[in-house]
Amino acid sequence: MSITNNSNNTTSPATPKTMRAWVYTSTRGGIEKNIHLISDAPLPFLPKDAILVKVHYSSLNPADYKFPELGLPMRALIPTPASPGMDFSGVVAQVGDSVDALRAGDAVFGRIPPTKHGSLGEYVCARLDGCAAVPAGVSLQDASCIGTAAQTAYQCIAPNVSPGDKVFVNGGSGGTGTFGIQIAKALGCHVTASCSGKNADLCRSLGADEVVDYTAEDVSQVLKAKGQVYQLVVDNVGTPADLHKAADHFLRPDGKFVQIGGEFTMANITTVMSRGLLPSFLGGGKRKWQYLVTSNTHADLEQIAKWMSEGKVKAIIDEVFQYEDAPKAFEKLRTGRAKGKIVIKSTA
Ligand SMILES: NC(=O)c1ccc[n+]([C@@H]2O[C@H](COP(=O)([O-])OP(=O)(O)OC[C@H]3O[C@@H](n4cnc5c(N)ncnc54)[C@H](OP(=O)(O)O)[C@@H]3O)[C@@H](O)[C@H]2O)c1
Repeated sequence: MSITNNSNNTTSPATPKTMRAWVYTSTRGGIEKNIHLISDAPLPFLPKDAILVKVHYSSLNPADYKFPELGLPMRALIPTPASPGMDFSGVVAQVGDSVDALRAGDAVFGRIPPTKHGSLGEYVCARLDGCAAVPAGVSLQDASCIGTAAQTAYQCIAPNVSPGDKVFVNGGSGGTGTFGIQIAKALGCHVTASCSGKNADLCRSLGADEVVDYTAEDVSQVLKAKGQVYQLVVDNVGTPADLHKAADHFLRPDGKFVQIGGEFTMANITTVMSRGLLPSFLGGGKRKWQYLVTSNTHADLEQIAKWMSEGKVKAIIDEVFQYEDAPKAFEKLRTGRAKGKIVIKSTA
């Protein structure tokens, strides 16, 4: 995005001084039991290289409860009361002094890092690397799903494959998995996805060539039986724990194992540590392993939105919640059983 000077960041008459926001001060017992709706939250400060967006939709990600629930270490980074939420779509209310690429009134979507002023507030402040214009033919509701889940899937897959490569998506039916299957297909790959039997048809409908039902089969054994044919594993789940070791038998020697998922439990932390640190002569896996952390990239957001406008990738939405029902949206997210994304409609 080019950045030059075209406006000032003084508050426009249409922008209020305060806003409605879901906020938490504690997360004891779960964020869904603690967030409460206030009507006098201050608007986020608008730096000169950012935009202020009136949020129309936000979509939730597991990190929206995992990070706040880390407790004290997180409070040091994000003072409370704070609003959760990273992903948004909406309309630009104001642009900072140095922003030229977008104007008030433009429809935008994107992702902000965890902050005191998350996307469960009526307004968010977004830097240009974390947002993009909503292209023609893409709804604000669908665009709100891209920020974390689709961008993460894209960053796991796009740099690591060529057309014709075989990709295994571990966890194909959730927020990241539903985008991952479609992105791998858009890049010309052959896709195998794991999910429970009830979600097999969903994964196939998104383009998965093969589906492994993790509730009925041993995923590692099924893949090992195929031989060293895969170029990439995207692990959205973190289990089974032996999957990276098993990849010695099903990933090509130059293949890669990219992990993003896993609960913050001792068992999963141990799995991540051993996958990342244990050498093969001590029982670790031989294949290259990476724990990927999403980083906001304007070009990636634009590419995904372009595919959506071309009909190559679509948002799979499990449920859209009204703004007042945000705690229920968190309750559903926490079940870990969502089919695609959970969306919150922020405007009446
Ligand atoms: N590192 C990063 O930067 C980053 C970025 C985004 C997400 N993440 C992490 O990645 C993980 C996935 O995120 P998400 O948004 O996709 O979560 P999500 O939407 O909540 O995932 C729910 C899905 O996971 C499936 N699932 C659960 N256990 C499974 C298993 N053992 N095998 C296969 N599928 C299973 C469920 O399918 P069934 O109902 O069929 O079981 C459900 O469809 C989370 O841990 C999240 O925190 C990390």
